[in-house]
Amino acid sequence: MITADAIKIKKTTKSRIPEVDFNDLGFGKVISDHMFVSDYKDGEWNNAHIEPFGDIAFSPSMLALHYGQIVFEGMKAFRTKDGNVSIFRIEKHYERFIKSMERMCMPVMSYRLFEEGLTNLMKVDQAWVPGSEGSALYIRPFAFASEERFGVKISSEYKYIIFSGPVGPYYDKPLRVKIEDHYRRAARGGTGSAKCAGNYGASFYPTHLAKMQGFDQVLWTDGSPELNIEESGTMNVMFVIDGVLVTPPLSDSILDGVTRDSFLTLAHELGIHTQQRTVSALELEAALEKGTLNEAFGTGTAAVAGAIQSIDIKGKDYTVPVPENGVMVKLKNLLTDIRTGKAPDKYSWNTIINCK
Ligand code: COI
Repeated sequence: MITADAIKIKKTTKSRIPEVDFNDLGFGKVISDHMFVSDYKDGEWNNAHIEPFGDIAFSPSMLALHYGQIVFEGMKAFRTKDGNVSIFRIEKHYERFIKSMERMCMPVMSYRLFEEGLTNLMKVDQAWVPGSEGSALYIRPFAFASEERFGVKISSEYKYIIFSGPVGPYYDKPLRVKIEDHYRRAARGGTGSAKCAGNYGASFYPTHLAKMQGFDQVLWTDGSPELNIEESGTMNVMFVIDGVLVTPPLSDSILDGVTRDSFLTLAHELGIHTQQRTVSALELEAALEKGTLNEAFGTGTAAVAGAIQSIDIKGKDYTVPVPENGVMVKLKNLLTDIRTGKAPDKYSWNTIINCK
């Protein structure tokens, strides 16, 4: 059993914070001073500690590099209006993390290890949580097979690491997307609902081709003749059709997005009617022709929400409205207010780290 007392903490003697331009963070470029590490060996997660962020040594035969047992989470912490740090929806991220681990045949860890690793790391690196509008501390918990051998097998050793980095807004303009009718992100029965590294690697080539054609990302479909929409790039996708917020239902090929879930909850609070149901390319095309597609956007931890300005369906480009105070903006603003303590945390989503 892991306790906060059991987590050994070795702090850096020289913080890198003075070198960081907090006005030019971008996404994924800057990494905070420390990382949390735990190792799985002999059937147990042990050796939980925090150390200065840095390189780790591994054998080129390490199993994760060959057979891809690697899962991760993307989480965020925010600076609250009273100067504390708030970590968003630890439990929901933990549930998804262990589901991903189970799907990739990896040994799950206790909630306590996940939660105490995060909260202790956030206490140590609290100065890295930015406070400017649209910024946050992105937290990356991940686990991988660390056994050193190349025989094809389920690894019997793993490493779990959490590091973080301050980030600014993910997208600076609404997205141009195309419905991808050849490549698939995920198949039924596959790993689409797991946050495993391979899903991202496999999406790069079709996304690269779409970018060469002038698009920002692709709308993934289920591969059926109807081209039912699944996700948008690395995000879940939502449409506002005739005033109703519609998003594809969760399945084993769609990631159970934490922002997706939060938006559905908040939409209910704002009196916006929601539907979790299949949306085909055909339905989208008809709505675009009739002018009943009011909005389209992606949701994800990194971007929070990314508006879609155009959708290409089989070579025809349709413009999508991007209203200044539409459903997406209302939901994004309310979510930001909850995370930063400006609106009440009715759903107990925030874990507060007192920074006084
Ligand atoms: C996220 O939205 O947090 C993601 O995981 C997508 C990407 C940054 C990998």
